[in-house]
Amino acid sequence: MSTEPRAPNASHPRSPTARAWVEVSASALRSNFRRVRSLLGPGPEIIPMVKADAYGLGMARAVEALSEEHPDGWGVATLDEALELKALGRAEPIQIYSPLPPEDLKPALEAGLIVSLSDPQALLDQLASGHLTPATPGTFDVEIDTGMGRAGADPEKVEVWAAALLEGLKGTALHWRGVFTHLHSADHDDPARGDAAVHAQAERFRQTLAALDPLMAAAGHPRLRRHLANSAGLLRYPHLAASFDAVRPGITLYGGTTGVDEGLKDVVAVRARVIRVTEVEPGATLGYGATHVATAPERWVTLGIGYGDGLPRSLSSRGEVLLRGRRVPILGRISMDMTVVLGTAVPDLEPGEVATVLGWDGEARISPEEVAALAGTIHYEILTGLGPRLPRVWTE
Ligand SMILES: Cc1ncc(COP(=O)(O)O)c(C=O)c1O
Repeated sequence: MSTEPRAPNASHPRSPTARAWVEVSASALRSNFRRVRSLLGPGPEIIPMVKADAYGLGMARAVEALSEEHPDGWGVATLDEALELKALGRAEPIQIYSPLPPEDLKPALEAGLIVSLSDPQALLDQLASGHLTPATPGTFDVEIDTGMGRAGADPEKVEVWAAALLEGLKGTALHWRGVFTHLHSADHDDPARGDAAVHAQAERFRQTLAALDPLMAAAGHPRLRRHLANSAGLLRYPHLAASFDAVRPGITLYGGTTGVDEGLKDVVAVRARVIRVTEVEPGATLGYGATHVATAPERWVTLGIGYGDGLPRSLSSRGEVLLRGRRVPILGRISMDMTVVLGTAVPDLEPGEVATVLGWDGEARISPEEVAALAGTIHYEILTGLGPRLPRVWTE
């Protein structure tokens, strides 16, 4: 797709690039998947996380693009996401990684989705109450809480819950496939603290596996599949990540960690058209609260994008955008549908020209991390916060 300014009068009322849009590079997404593969070697399976609409980029298109790289499964967070993905007809296993509300457990199992249990007793309770029957088919993993604290079974009590689970599964059609844990600090700003936390979690996970393995063997149960690494885990600790059976990258695939590894590529750009250009005199006021007042003649350039599209309002008077490959500041308060930038240094601007709010324009680049730092959040929230009003325009 071209990001050239449109010719005057060439507008199409239904063009997805008429106002503002998210440009997503399918080839960069695939390239990032291959980079993950090359960092890890052929051993571990790669399970792309496509939850939250593939981090805001569009699940169906992300799945279509990544399928060409032969992933080993897909990761989502909710039953609805899993059902949406299942409807795409892919053959790879779909796992729901967040704990499910009790009423979603049975439909998820019956739909052939892999469930992640934090509380194995809850499954046994549903069997005991008859809500699940021994004939209910289904596959699940157990999450182990090695320190994330938001989900997962207690590793200190592994012998108790695992023995109860193995006993309760006898004579049922349910299959316990594996165990996993989640790293909380692999991307810690302080590498020493990150190292200590990752190794402590890995050690706890290994101890849990050491307790589980003999129990499983005694019950004649196949070896459990095991994994722990997210993006930061596999980028910073590839040997550790590859010593388990799978990895679960999300943000790395979507270009959120391009600064960490030079083999990774930008995937996402947010573009907005210029909708007005005006020359103002000193004293002119701008935006809600009139927080910007021109002190000299200025060229104000209005972009058709605002916080209603997911551009954080906290970038008001702080953020920058790219106009013709050059950084220009955001002036005054961002409003719901419009944002004004200073175009004084950019000659001959006309409505229709394309500005880049996030992403690349020639050599210049505004990364998701940069926007997130200014907005006081993380790049994950910038991507997942991109609103439904922005068409996702996929390019090769
Ligand atoms: C269980 C689990 N695994 C993997 C991921 C992927 O994380 P990241 O996007 O940091 O790679 C997530 C996302 O938060 C997750 O919840």
